[in-house]
Amino acid sequence: MKAFIFDLDGVIVFTDKFHYQAWKKMADEMGIYFDETINNRLRGVSRAESLEIILERYEGPALSQEKKAELMESKNHTYRELLASMTPADVADEVRETLAELHKRGYKLALGSSSKNAKFILEKVDLLDAFDAISDGTNITKSKPDPEVFLKAAEFLGEKPEDCFVVEDAYAGIDAAKNAGMQAVGIGDAAGYEKADKRIQSFRDLLNYV
Ligand code: BG6
Ligand code: MG
Repeated sequence: MKAFIFDLDGVIVFTDKFHYQAWKKMADEMGIYFDETINNRLRGVSRAESLEIILERYEGPALSQEKKAELMESKNHTYRELLASMTPADVADEVRETLAELHKRGYKLALGSSSKNAKFILEKVDLLDAFDAISDGTNITKSKPDPEVFLKAAEFLGEKPEDCFVVEDAYAGIDAAKNAGMQAVGIGDAAGYEKADKRIQSFRDLLNYV
């Protein structure tokens, strides 16, 4: 293996809790039931698809595309307000140290995130320079479980898919990695997913594979 591709939300930083809070605010305002179990289905899924999943429980009159765009805008506004409080201290030491150690051992590192806020987050936590390439929600047309975001990351790195490990907390992300022909490592929520090639409890466990 020559490269690692990391998901962002729920792997590098715990912004997944901010996604939850922001969607929860929107759902409460709309009178839609929403909880952490439903939230797990949003991991790795695009903003628009996340909204559709939340709206499965909506019982009011049909919503126009404009209204849906407004709801996504409002959720993103709340989410960005929550992100604004982030600092480099929001990245665990073991994450920073493991990324540096993987680089030292000669691996290329990329980000593979569905988020359009990825670069903003990496800037806030001072990790922009930690990656050799960034593939995110701004350069894809299909979201996980489609392999596009990871195939683009491999292309940006100049590596073959079969030489890449993907590290993911989302079931949809593990499926995307397998669809890309890559090795999938599950952490967090995805540490319980049997389709992952490897399952880890702690970020530094990655160093055991290389
Ligand atoms: C993924 C998250 O990283 O990004 C999803 O796991 C989220 O929950 C998706 O919907 C899109 O994020 P954003 O920041 O572009 O709304
Ligand atoms: Mg994630």
